[in-house]
Amino acid sequence: MARKKIIAGNWKMNMTPSQAVKLVETLKPLVVNDEVDVVFCVPAIDIIPVLEAAKGTNIQVGAENMYFEEKGAFTGEIAPAMLEEVGVKYVVLGHSERRQYFAETSETVNKKMLKAFEHGITPIMCCGESLEQREQGITMDWIRQQVKVGFQNVTADQAKTAVIAYEPIWAIGTGKTATTEQAQEVCAGIRQCIAEIYDEATAAEIRIQYGGSVNAKTAPDLFAQADIDGGLVGGASLKEEFGQIVNYK
Ligand code: 13P
Repeated sequence: MARKKIIAGNWKMNMTPSQAVKLVETLKPLVVNDEVDVVFCVPAIDIIPVLEAAKGTNIQVGAENMYFEEKGAFTGEIAPAMLEEVGVKYVVLGHSERRQYFAETSETVNKKMLKAFEHGITPIMCCGESLEQREQGITMDWIRQQVKVGFQNVTADQAKTAVIAYEPIWAIGTGKTATTEQAQEVCAGIRQCIAEIYDEATAAEIRIQYGGSVNAKTAPDLFAQADIDGGLVGGASLKEEFGQIVNYK
């Protein structure tokens, strides 16, 4: 069975609620494509208005983060049940910006992964190396570690439904997309790692995205690679260009 592509926008800390609704209105007709899953991962305060604005379309809505506890004294955090109740289907976990600025670790990512599955929310788990790590030749060792810790105690059945986003840190927001060969090589390595943790069947089902300066020009080649099942798109997901990325063929 061929894996369905998943093309997700990560809005990061952009768009007030009114701007968010406007953007959905603009993108709605442009992102129609039944062959791919289209997901808008948006700031927490935009989730409800975006869900409303996207009603009746093929747009699915995701969160950019959540906490790993059920509820309680965790000021400023969003609980998994809050996302579940309003109909959020995906959550980005362990984005490199959260690892860099908000002390996210693979251990906390793992706790969040387990919680997401418990609540029927599909995690989009991010991994990726720094430029320094790439130059040191430890890219794959580093990413294997992120994947292995991130998936601890995740069952094969859960892992099959998960999404992994490979985002080289040096390619994020820099306009410097990884070459298709670099992206394919690491995504294949991630699939291999999943096969080692679980089995070939799980590796064949899990979806692996590439992220990092994806644009309308680079998307077609990237998404044609054997192990790249779509993209996690930052800057270009806030523009009409996202419609071309979703309809990359
Ligand atoms: P850019 O597409 O802006 O490089 O961002 C990529 C990213 O971090 C998506 O999560």
